[in-house]
Amino acid sequence: MLQVEVQRETTLREALTIARIVKVNHAGEFGAIRIYSAQVLVARRLWPDCVPALSEMLADERRHCTLFRGAMSARKSRPCRVMQFWSYGGWMLGFLTALLGRQGIWACTAAVEAVVHRHLDDQLHFLKERDPELAGIILSIRDEEIAHLRHAEERLVSRNVASRSLRAVISMATDCLIWLSTWGDSTRMARALKREAARLADDMHASSR
Ligand SMILES: [Fe+2]
Ligand SMILES: [Fe+2]
Repeated sequence: MLQVEVQRETTLREALTIARIVKVNHAGEFGAIRIYSAQVLVARRLWPDCVPALSEMLADERRHCTLFRGAMSARKSRPCRVMQFWSYGGWMLGFLTALLGRQGIWACTAAVEAVVHRHLDDQLHFLKERDPELAGIILSIRDEEIAHLRHAEERLVSRNVASRSLRAVISMATDCLIWLSTWGDSTRMARALKREAARLADDMHASSR
């Protein structure tokens, strides 16, 4: 009986983590749309050579956002209630970094995409066995996110203190936006994924003895 209850508790907790993953990812993709939209707007006037790549990334993010939106209802997940944090915050982040110039644009893209990449890898590990369909969606977009990151990193010519500081500030701002837009769900999700990784490590340690 106790065993059954423990099993059910774990399943509910996992379902909640899966719902949070979809919610956080949807908010993140929406934020990326806002960032790239503002950057395209500025780049059209000031840095037209950046527009084709930014427009391609924007189209990718729109498709990613639609995929996560479509995965929500089956997982009892809903868009976060404060999407305006992402809407205004993401737009301002894109607008201000684009005003700084091409290096501002690519520093922003590299910082944002690195945060995305970190989140997706943790999630894939957790979802592989528990929600293969969602894992499949994440796998299908991961190559594009890595391509965005590589494209930006290849164009970051200055890696001085100012450029590194800008990336660090944008990374913090991105994490902060994710946290605010999901009322801390991103932190709870990260904790759940960390707990799971620790449990797996314990299991492996026990089975190797
Ligand atoms: Fe994306
Ligand atoms: Fe991306």
